[in-house]
Amino acid sequence: MKALVCEQFGALDNLRLQSVSSPTPGPGQVVVQVHAASLNFPDVLMCQGKYQVKPPLPFSPGAEVAGVVCEVGAGVTDWQPGEAVMASTGYGALAEQCVVDAVRLARLPAGMSFAQASAMVVTYGTALHALRDCAGLQAGETVLVLGAAGGVGSAALQVARQMGARVIAAVSSEAKAALCRRQGVDAVLIYTEPAQLKSQIGALAGEGGVQVVFDPVGGNFALPAFRSLAWGGRYLVVGFAAGTIPAFPLNFALLQARRVLGVYWGEVIRRDPAAYQAVLRQLCDWVTAGLIAPVISAEIGLEQAVEGLKAIEARQVTGKVVVKFTDTD
Ligand SMILES: NC(=O)c1ccc[n+]([C@@H]2O[C@H](COP(=O)([O-])OP(=O)(O)OC[C@H]3O[C@@H](n4cnc5c(N)ncnc54)[C@H](OP(=O)(O)O)[C@@H]3O)[C@@H](O)[C@H]2O)c1
Repeated sequence: MKALVCEQFGALDNLRLQSVSSPTPGPGQVVVQVHAASLNFPDVLMCQGKYQVKPPLPFSPGAEVAGVVCEVGAGVTDWQPGEAVMASTGYGALAEQCVVDAVRLARLPAGMSFAQASAMVVTYGTALHALRDCAGLQAGETVLVLGAAGGVGSAALQVARQMGARVIAAVSSEAKAALCRRQGVDAVLIYTEPAQLKSQIGALAGEGGVQVVFDPVGGNFALPAFRSLAWGGRYLVVGFAAGTIPAFPLNFALLQARRVLGVYWGEVIRRDPAAYQAVLRQLCDWVTAGLIAPVISAEIGLEQAVEGLKAIEARQVTGKVVVKFTDTD
């Protein structure tokens, strides 16, 4: 079978499209015939050896997948070959077949395409887990989403709106702002200078500030965003796409009773499969009811996957890039 393979950590140009042997499922595992797999920023970090998880080499990147079960391992009773599924894989999804622990599978609801399903598990899972389970977001509260046109950012916009929040999207360009407006957010700001961000947020949020910040970016915009939180506000530490991990003077937390909340969806999936399944059920209900829909900006073949990862690294991607393995949806 064809697979994108990382043989050594480093530049994305090291990735190679190779013919490798098809996988076999271990106990409790299934093999999925991949129809679609979507790209995420952590794939880039993982190939560069900069992610918190370092797979044994060689490995195929790709953290979320949708496809059809083609083989089940010993002890797997809930799944049969031929069933359409989606899953978080951690890595391994950029291959024609991948092995997945059965506890990570969820059924594709009728009407959901493989492409849509492959663009949901990581990004929308992270957004719903962060906003609902970590921050306890309430209807009527105001959420600021940084990097709001990216993968987890665009998911957070939709999930926060669905939860009844007022949503402010923050992005780096007019083109990305336009994408956020199409998502029906309440307000959009374009950040250029960290020193101006607090007053930009204040102008949109009002004196009280925002109740929740969803931050997948980090870097120099994090502190002004943190200082824009209202009394008792919650700061969701989602990621550091800007490349630097921010550090806060803790008096800014004490004086307004603000809370810093770490979000690690991949670890929740490992530690609490029931919570993972509950999040996926809610997301599937919303997708099938037409209430949310992944923003898929490009569909490419496996041959173009390295270019897709490079575009993420270069800050050029909006929404999700989906790698399709078949002509069906
Ligand atoms: N905690 C979790 O469980 C979890 C789960 C999934 C992902 N993540 C993390 O969340 C972050 C975003 O992931 P993603 O897949 O949504 O990425 P993405 O689609 O590439 O979006 C990241 C956004 O960050 C902003 N950004 C600012 N500086 C950047 C830079 N130097 N390079 C690239 N982007 C930059 C960009 O928006 P602007 O141009 O508008 O600034 C971009 O749209 C990553 O750090 C990832 O590891 C965490």
